[in-house]
Amino acid sequence: MIERLESLLKDAREELAKASTKDLVLQAKGKYVGRKGEVASLLKDLGALPPEERKSAGEAINKVKTLIESEIERLLSGFLESEKEGKLRKERLDITLPGRFVRPGKRHPVTQVMDEIEDIFLGLGFDIAEGPEVELDYYNFEALNFPPDHPARDMQDTFFVGGDLLLRTHTSSVQPRVMEKKAPPFRIIAPGTVYRRDSDITHSPMFHQVEGFMVDSKITFSDLKGTLTHFLRSLFGSRTAIRFRPSFFPFTEPSAEVDISCVICKGTGCRVCKGSGWLEILGAGMIHPNVFRAVKYDPEACTGFAFGLGVERIAMLKFGIDDLRLLFENDLRFLQQF
Ligand code: FA5
Repeated sequence: MIERLESLLKDAREELAKASTKDLVLQAKGKYVGRKGEVASLLKDLGALPPEERKSAGEAINKVKTLIESEIERLLSGFLESEKEGKLRKERLDITLPGRFVRPGKRHPVTQVMDEIEDIFLGLGFDIAEGPEVELDYYNFEALNFPPDHPARDMQDTFFVGGDLLLRTHTSSVQPRVMEKKAPPFRIIAPGTVYRRDSDITHSPMFHQVEGFMVDSKITFSDLKGTLTHFLRSLFGSRTAIRFRPSFFPFTEPSAEVDISCVICKGTGCRVCKGSGWLEILGAGMIHPNVFRAVKYDPEACTGFAFGLGVERIAMLKFGIDDLRLLFENDLRFLQQF
């Protein structure tokens, strides 16, 4: 038995040493350690041995079996490894090549502020309306109680297109357009682009406003104050102080300008608020009876408030931007900060 085992081990080793392919190794595996292989037939012959020899012979067979199996295992894993390497070489990827970075897009800071303003008013039950940017003189001025040649028209330097057409100077033009088509009660905001012949660090020839107006039978100045206070505190924080100053707009009476405590110095006085502690943020007032007359509402039966704010001004305060023109230069280094 020992001799048979030794020659079996020798044959197997020689055959495996010559096996140059995976198939030849697998063939040798079947021949020596397979279910019907030579080791199996040796094990079968164990029964013919005298009982006292069986144990040691069994152990010897198993030892040889383990030796052959581990050699087969070593050869097979070598073939697997070189197969993998061949495959990798064929499907070569240069993993050091830098990828093409797709920069995710972002909303413009003015759009971000516009969306935030809209969300606050939608939460208060306001609807959204729009009007044309190339507007009739009638809606931009006349229906809003600016008589022809009235000096109040000079408050807003206008781009005239020709004839009765101009680029709207404020979103207040949406007020008479909506009122002509709709009966009260309603509450509306009208966000949009407006144009004026203006250009410096706080003025741009094209900018954005959000108009708001609410009409019903018993709207009071308190409703205006409550609405704007809620809006400004949602936007700038609950500790923001708010003040109303008397002002003039032809389409509101009484009219007010609304200031908030300076977001930079919190009201103690700084360069941004020019030492006053306050920042002007919007214009507002109770809708003038002449506006109601122009749209055929009964000024005795209707009351309403209106307000209009500059979106860039709010974006500057929220993000601490000190030159409004930066918002329109489209410099990615600037825009990526928001
Ligand atoms: C008006 O435009 C009125 N229509 C607002 C209004 C509506 C009053 C409803 C009463 C009732 P004013 O001209 O002040 O008002 O402009 C409103 C805001 O627009 C200003 O507070 C300012 O923030 C902004 N603004 C005005 N001109 C410019 C400009 N050239 N560039 C950027 N923002 C501007």
